[in-house]
Amino acid sequence: MHPLKWWQTTVFYQIYPRSFADGNGDGIGDFAGMIDRLDYLRTLGVGALWLSPHYPSPNADCGYDISDYTGVAPEYGTLDDFRRFLEGAHARGMRIVLDLVLNHTSEEHPWFKESRSSRDNPKRDWYIWRDPAPDGGPPNNWYSAFGGSAWTFDETTGQYYYHFFFKEQPDLNWRNPDVKQAMWQAVRFWLDMGVDGFRLDAIDTIFEDPDLTPQQSKLSQIEMLRIWRENRPPEETKELWEQFALMFRHQVQQPGLHELMKELRALVDSYPGDRVLIGEGDDIAYYGNGDDELHLVFNFPLMRTNRLTPAWIRANQTERLAALPPSAWPCNTLGNHDVGRVWTAYGDGVNDAALARLHAAMLLTLKGTPVLYNGEEIGMTDLLLERFDQLRDNQAVNLYHAAVGDGIPPDEAMKMAARISRDRCRTPIQWANAPNAGFSSPGVTTWLPVNPNYAHGVNVADQDGDPHSLLNYYRRLIAARQATPALLAGEYTPLHPDEERYLAFLRTTPEQRCLVALNFTAEPVTASFTSEKGSLLRTIFSSHARPAAEDNPMHLTLAPFEAYIGEILPEDRG
Ligand code: GLC
Repeated sequence: MHPLKWWQTTVFYQIYPRSFADGNGDGIGDFAGMIDRLDYLRTLGVGALWLSPHYPSPNADCGYDISDYTGVAPEYGTLDDFRRFLEGAHARGMRIVLDLVLNHTSEEHPWFKESRSSRDNPKRDWYIWRDPAPDGGPPNNWYSAFGGSAWTFDETTGQYYYHFFFKEQPDLNWRNPDVKQAMWQAVRFWLDMGVDGFRLDAIDTIFEDPDLTPQQSKLSQIEMLRIWRENRPPEETKELWEQFALMFRHQVQQPGLHELMKELRALVDSYPGDRVLIGEGDDIAYYGNGDDELHLVFNFPLMRTNRLTPAWIRANQTERLAALPPSAWPCNTLGNHDVGRVWTAYGDGVNDAALARLHAAMLLTLKGTPVLYNGEEIGMTDLLLERFDQLRDNQAVNLYHAAVGDGIPPDEAMKMAARISRDRCRTPIQWANAPNAGFSSPGVTTWLPVNPNYAHGVNVADQDGDPHSLLNYYRRLIAARQATPALLAGEYTPLHPDEERYLAFLRTTPEQRCLVALNFTAEPVTASFTSEKGSLLRTIFSSHARPAAEDNPMHLTLAPFEAYIGEILPEDRG
């Protein structure tokens, strides 16, 4: 076996810069704040930080509308601040992975400003322009995934431009080689500076059908916006997801994508130091042959439920691992800046605290690279905004308008908007039981409201000193994972496949065998592993107090919601 690369063994942690830590007291996170918290991240045990976009942006899509690919948003600091952050992370043994938004720029990007200025501007063909339909309407019936038509009319030149996301995010024309060259230059800029890789935004959407074949789904815009963001049970949404796929069939996963990913991979591989590419997209085809496209592709199917049951997780793992090309490496996550927080999304409303621990143990013991989202480690929850003027996520704003337009009363429309709004998981990180949760100085108005539950223990400072806190649980769990070769490198073998109460699996390397057993019920359960050749289970980690190491024969009684990791010692030991 090849020795594993850093991106296979480390734990990734996503920082949402706007909400991480406010160093200059303007209510918005920044690099000064991030630099101050590097030691916190080091003691958490994570080894790679993925930053959501830190580039200049008018923020129509909270930074995912970039107006300069080689700059730093002034509210976050300067390029020198970025360099200090990068050096500070590297000095502490942590890698930095940036967000790379290839599909579109901001409408404020100089390329688009030029492109829209006249039909014969040299950059006209950098974006996707089409004549109006004969009735003056949009060129076809494609929708934007964020609501409304995918086409916006531009008065200056009398044509429509295409945008898969907001109208402020015009799609680049990736069939134009100049676009590619310009973007690769930006990629080189950051690689030359020493960043360790990129998380690739929305890769599915880079190309679209040049024939503009009309879509034929029956999905309403409101339903479309809701299933995208609400964690509803899969059985409720199966048909809706099919219609969703039909709606965007000609706008995603078009020919040309894999060639492009290969080219980017070759570029990144031309740099020393094992830089990494992580794809936002769940299609395993992005792994290519396992070595020639992306290094990691998120296992998003694991997240498409509101209950992580043993059966769900087993089915996901069986399917996903079997489908991966031989040298491809899995990548698991449960949360990010686009979906509900893990605590809220997969809780049952009664045992949320215990379930949060169980879910963390699952994520950190399955085969593959785990990616955490900032704030999960202290149990941050969704915050449902109550007032329209608090919304910062324009997707929710669009849903609100669409709902009101459909005759839904404003109060009801606001509740729907709050439930899908990505603001719910983007509120400031809660550092202390102090005004503004210690994110910003007292009295400052933060860019999104702070979740008031910081005053009830959901904050770093309180949890730091409490050995039983969720934060210290994460620290212990990550440390156990990093110290256990089988958890980093081992093959995954599911055990007791019909068991509904607990999830049990082995992680096995030639040198070490580990058993992971997670009790998903509020009752104790007894499980026997005597068929797994071994004499004793040596406890490596448990969410509960356990008797001393090396005293468990090959059967276990798991406490309610216990997460257990043990090494199986061979029969002939000694
Ligand atoms: C990705 C990002 C999301 C953004 C979209 C458009 O899905 O995760 O936040 O809105 O791309 O860039």
